[in-house]
Amino acid sequence: MTDWQPNNTQTGTEAYSEEILSQMTTSERTRLAIRLYKEGDIEIHDAIKISGLSAEIFSSILRGMSLPVRQLNVLVCGGAGFIGSNFVRHMVTKYPHYKIVNLDKLTYAGNLENLIDIEHLSNYKFYHGDIVDQQMIEHVITTEKIDAIVNFAAETHVDRSIHVGSREFVMTNVVGVQTLLDATRRHNLFKFINISTDEVYGSLKLNEHRMFLENTAFEPNVPYAAAKSGGDLLCRAYYQTFGVPVIVSHCSNNYGPYQFPEKLIPFLIGKALNNEPFPIYGDGRNIRDWLFVLDHVKAIDLMLHKGIPGEVYNIGGNNEKNNLEIAKLILQYFNLPESTIKFVPDRPGHDRRYAIDATKIMNDLGWYPEHRFEEALPKTIEWYLNNKEWSENVQKRNSAINGHIK
Ligand SMILES: NC(=O)c1ccc[n+]([C@@H]2O[C@H](COP(=O)([O-])OP(=O)(O)OC[C@H]3O[C@@H](n4cnc5c(N)ncnc54)[C@H](O)[C@@H]3O)[C@@H](O)[C@H]2O)c1
Repeated sequence: MTDWQPNNTQTGTEAYSEEILSQMTTSERTRLAIRLYKEGDIEIHDAIKISGLSAEIFSSILRGMSLPVRQLNVLVCGGAGFIGSNFVRHMVTKYPHYKIVNLDKLTYAGNLENLIDIEHLSNYKFYHGDIVDQQMIEHVITTEKIDAIVNFAAETHVDRSIHVGSREFVMTNVVGVQTLLDATRRHNLFKFINISTDEVYGSLKLNEHRMFLENTAFEPNVPYAAAKSGGDLLCRAYYQTFGVPVIVSHCSNNYGPYQFPEKLIPFLIGKALNNEPFPIYGDGRNIRDWLFVLDHVKAIDLMLHKGIPGEVYNIGGNNEKNNLEIAKLILQYFNLPESTIKFVPDRPGHDRRYAIDATKIMNDLGWYPEHRFEEALPKTIEWYLNNKEWSENVQKRNSAINGHIK
């Protein structure tokens, strides 16, 4: 191979003009890109450009050579929501040399107060925007030299998809994902991770032993889950058709700090603080698997750095609890009687049980949940007690939370 030397002091692709690169064979370009990357002269973004390969093939070469990912500019979509803000905080503090760009539409669920403690950091930047807006996405990717996208942006509340309407769900969870996939393809980005849910798999019976596996067929029963399934299926299709380096994850119910109080655990904590009855749907025996949010965040970090494009990973806490059990644990914490529970008519399409088999991500990426429910639930309650102002501000902005539950 000709040992192409940079002709000036420029670094990265600027030192290797298109003209020079076009005279080289693919294998020469790949070897040059790997050498420069290995020596630390360039980062992934420029290495992919110099190699002229697709991001998927280049990242498989890096994996084959056990070369680590050193630096990334990550676009986090929906980073002002519950899980997204926990992920942003984890990334900006754990990887001070990365650039974390948060793009969020700030819907009713988006809250910049979630990030107040880290917003001043120089490796963090916020854009107010919509993932459906192609021009906006184009602008951010180009301006910030984005390498990878992690997408949390979604309409996420099942009850709203039933009682308010599902149009926004389809726009963000399907069309938004398609917009990000097109951008990932156009810019040959290193990775696109679509954060999804176990709800796409439908419902299990209370007494069956089956758990959801990565190849369990999608059987969504509510508009939220159907819209998430649509986005996930597009991810699959973009990988199969175009080789876009997509990873989809299906996680069970999360709990922890900064969760919007329409969701079960912060909703019931709010009821306890206001001395109000705990409304519980149906007979309260619907089972969910519960995972502490920081365990989910750790799994996403692993998928970003070590996950294999085209793969799907289930994430779960092996911690099944029914809604009544959750309600009783919160009542116990506040020393309130069980008569606080008030059963209300069940919600339509209410899935009976979800159970996630997370063996694959444990075996392949070495992930395991670190937080035990028995310790993390009281800590979560304490967080809401210590951050009453956060909850009050959310309440002020959103007058009737779960107003359909009478
Ligand atoms: N919360 C859970 O228990 C759970 C479990 C498994 C998977 N998930 C998935 O994780 C992701 C995040 O969930 P969450 O609970 O943090 O949600 P959330 O409702 O708290 O936050 C969603 C965020 O997305 C933003 N957003 C909505 N539409 C947008 C758009 N068009 N463009 C840009 N931003 C937009 C909102 O402003 C908000 O900040 C979702 O995709 C959800 O399906 C959640």
